[in-house]
Amino acid sequence: MENRKQIVAGNWKMHKTYDEGMALVNEIISKTHEGNVQVVLGVPFIHLKGAADLTANIPYISLASQNCHEKESGAYTGEVSADMLLSVGAEYVILGHSERREHFKESNEVLSKKAEHAISKGLLPIFCCGESLRIRKASIHVDFVANQLIEGLFHLNKEAFAKVVIAYEPVWAIGTGETATPEQAQTMHQDIRKLIEKKYGGQTAQNTTILYGGSVKPDNARDLFSQTDVDGALVGGASLNADDFVAIINSF
Ligand code: PGA
Repeated sequence: MENRKQIVAGNWKMHKTYDEGMALVNEIISKTHEGNVQVVLGVPFIHLKGAADLTANIPYISLASQNCHEKESGAYTGEVSADMLLSVGAEYVILGHSERREHFKESNEVLSKKAEHAISKGLLPIFCCGESLRIRKASIHVDFVANQLIEGLFHLNKEAFAKVVIAYEPVWAIGTGETATPEQAQTMHQDIRKLIEKKYGGQTAQNTTILYGGSVKPDNARDLFSQTDVDGALVGGASLNADDFVAIINSF
């Protein structure tokens, strides 16, 4: 393993009431300890402050929001800014999740602005990319994912790009119980790293954390994490259960 951070991030999506969320945070705290892995909890906006209070003295747990607006502030009813997120303890922001791209029509263009703004504020993007089944079947997935990264991130200068964590999440594997094989994940992660190398150089490429996401479970995490270019996971369903999530963390 190179000089890069290993991360297991949970994406809670739109699940858990406030009290249920705090109970889950407490359970995760009680079942984990400091190790090589940074644990990131991608909680709903309203859970951030409470979760930040509970994890204040736990350096290996960080918090992420699941979205953030690209503007500083203003008349954008219902939206949340990077400054607001930082003020309640978020360190990371998940950007460009396939559900945001699909249901909320987030384009590479708007995501490029979100990434740039978040980084300028000191919020670290977990930037999602990944192809649908149709794209994979047409064997154009490598170019498709490359285009998401080129259009969404490659306008950043090297220093800004160094703040980004990438999450490769094939859409056909999200919430379906179907996981990419460790070999499929490794191949795509390696391609992503090569693309980064071409743009930003070898050192930046080696230092970039690339997570895999899509039906990561306790029983497949170890094989995925054993791949050279897989530096952790973005976990949806299994992050809602403390035992499963902790088992994934412990798979490193
Ligand atoms: P899943 O979700 O683990 O439930 O497939 C992953 C994600 O959406 O990030």
